[in-house]
Amino acid sequence: MHEITFRRALLARLLRATGAGSLGASLAGAVGAACGSNVTMDTASAGSGGAASTVTSSASAGGGGAGGQTNLGGGSPGDAGLCGPVQTCFPEADGSACPTPESLVGMTAYLAGCPGAPGTCPRIEKVLSGPFTDAGTECCYFVEGTSIPCYVGRTFFLDEGVVKAELRPGRSWCRDPACPRPDPSALPAATRRALGEAWARDGLFEHASVASFSRFSMQLLALGAPADLVRDTHAACVDEVRHAELCLALASAYLGRDVEPSGLPMPAAVEVGADLAAIAAESALEGCVGETVAAVQAQASLLRATDPAVREVLAVTVEDETRHAELAWRFLAWALDVGGHPVRERVMRAFAGFHPAPPTPEDLGGVDLALYEAHGRMVAAEARAIADRALADVVRPCLCGLLDRRRGAPGAADARPTA
Ligand SMILES: [Fe+2]
Ligand SMILES: [Fe+2]
Repeated sequence: MHEITFRRALLARLLRATGAGSLGASLAGAVGAACGSNVTMDTASAGSGGAASTVTSSASAGGGGAGGQTNLGGGSPGDAGLCGPVQTCFPEADGSACPTPESLVGMTAYLAGCPGAPGTCPRIEKVLSGPFTDAGTECCYFVEGTSIPCYVGRTFFLDEGVVKAELRPGRSWCRDPACPRPDPSALPAATRRALGEAWARDGLFEHASVASFSRFSMQLLALGAPADLVRDTHAACVDEVRHAELCLALASAYLGRDVEPSGLPMPAAVEVGADLAAIAAESALEGCVGETVAAVQAQASLLRATDPAVREVLAVTVEDETRHAELAWRFLAWALDVGGHPVRERVMRAFAGFHPAPPTPEDLGGVDLALYEAHGRMVAAEARAIADRALADVVRPCLCGLLDRRRGAPGAADARPTA
């Protein structure tokens, strides 16, 4: 399916998932206009969404994936590091009161003194003072932040930052005879190595996504979420096991040695929590943005790939990530229904704070880029351009459709979670 057709079909599918599907697939332009200045989200210049970007606080995302563990910028994620104090400001949501300092902790946000390494995003760790208002339109705070690697999708975050395993020799992931075996025999050594490293990196993030969905399933139970969300989250968790297997099988083939994940470094206690607004905001970025963009990027990679084994992996990824995106949007619709205004405000702030990072330089010296693409990978700049189109043509109109539906949903603002 052509990229534009795919984005339209995906938007229609996601709108249906949120209950706004009757508005139809032609909604992108119309709904974008309808939400106007109520929804601030930086979607760059691509696509038909046409965001009115009055955002003064922004998060960024980096990386350069091709499969289900996709990211929005370029390069490899770096390690966490502390920074600040710095000032950060948010537009007042619907002219309402400024967010409480506690509600900002854990949010990704643009922190001018917290640039971090390429492929990292600043996250607020501590609010030192505020809010104080700027011309009555912005809420400003002094904060301390951490730069965290910003793979999106179901990345597994703990207080310590992103958690993922290391690569080690072994073939306990994907022993199955059905595991993909691409043909790397004709590939130059540098291209082969770059492909192996890229697929291995994705494999480790897919592996960590299993833990992320596991925690999300517990959060859903704590929130009293309906059975269909719990069931589909567990199914998505199993999908991520398969994605990790597939990516690591590809990595093993290109690297010429079998690789598997080490143990996932897990602390003694993992916080689950039952703060609906916080979980909804997290899911808005990790799921609604991350998995939607992942589906679009995987489809773009599928269109370019020619190796049959890689194409099979990408076809599975496109379908699975589309379902995961639907799940995230369905959860958001439910959270807005039961949580009302506080959840809506927090979610809008999360989207307003989202801003993909510019693509960062990546070292692909000596790599045959045509072969790199034929085997399912794309350069960071292209991945970022595709992400921009996904944000403009799918994520933003879907958010607008969802918020529009919420505004018209009787009693939604007064509903409260049952747990
Ligand atoms: Fe995945
Ligand atoms: Fe996923």
